[in-house]
Amino acid sequence: MTSYQTVPKAELHCHIEGAATPSLVRRLAEQKGIDVSPIIDQNGKYIWSDFTTFLKAYDLASSVFKTPADYSLLTETYFRMLAAEGAIYGEVFISPDHAQAAGLSYRSYVEGLAAGIERAKADTGIEGRMIAIGVRHFGSASVERVVREVIGNPHPLVTGFGLAGDEREGHPANFAKAFRMAAEAGLGITAHAGEFGGPDSVIAALEFLRVKRIGHGVRAIEDENLVRRLADERVVLEVCPGSNMALGVYSVLRFHPVNLLRRAGVRLTLNSDDPPFFNTTLGKEYTSVAKTFGWSLEDQLDITRTAIEAAFCDDGTRQRLLVRLESAKHA
Ligand code: ADE
Ligand code: ZN
Repeated sequence: MTSYQTVPKAELHCHIEGAATPSLVRRLAEQKGIDVSPIIDQNGKYIWSDFTTFLKAYDLASSVFKTPADYSLLTETYFRMLAAEGAIYGEVFISPDHAQAAGLSYRSYVEGLAAGIERAKADTGIEGRMIAIGVRHFGSASVERVVREVIGNPHPLVTGFGLAGDEREGHPANFAKAFRMAAEAGLGITAHAGEFGGPDSVIAALEFLRVKRIGHGVRAIEDENLVRRLADERVVLEVCPGSNMALGVYSVLRFHPVNLLRRAGVRLTLNSDDPPFFNTTLGKEYTSVAKTFGWSLEDQLDITRTAIEAAFCDDGTRQRLLVRLESAKHA
């Protein structure tokens, strides 16, 4: 096994609405008479300039998905693409607030998304799970509403709860109750922190949300005690280097802390976040990091192993994925 494409991969951090390609968004927008010209240019690329305008573009792109069939098309397309890049497992963040804004019930939203995941699995073997997220800048009442909806409408493929949105708004303490409810209901939990916020944001997520997985978390590198704590407590970071560069958190990959964090013993995974917005894919993340930092095939397999170990799936599925990973090594 020599090519980058054949490295078995797993993804833990991708926002499904943020994985919609501009061409799919434009096609659905035309069907529904929605004007997406402010966010998609003549060359078929998303238009945004900073985190705030990115979030706005993301909201408008999401608004074209209105029916369960639209959402199943979205997940089927994304999971097929992941599988084509060698992924054997993917978790996607789903956003019940965006579905509600588009006029869809939580249940219809999840059933639509799940149908697409199942279709992709039937054809390619890729396993998928969903993590429902609350949007931080919508406030704690909105985030608690999401967790109640998830708990009240259990679905076998919705196995986690998370917090995304603008990290510069709302202290994690405001969301402690939502996370306690999610954990008590048996959901895996993760929160975005240490992307735009510094080390304090990561510490607050650990303390108030009691998470063992963190979305991004890379700015922990600015505090050596925190780096040691992450390593000691075996916290897993969902690192998204392409996203960080696109959003200006780091200027070039050489200066991204992914390699330093890993060398310091922090467990981490590689992810695409909102791939077409950031001109990336999961495959590109593995390839560019491996090339830039000289990671071997074994290093890359180790990233996938960490993702599977930290995945929000049942242990039977985890064991099967680990067997698939090990057997690919000898193929
Ligand atoms: N929602 C979608 N992408 C996000 C990101 N990179 N950070 C926070 N919230 C998001
Ligand atoms: Zn994210």
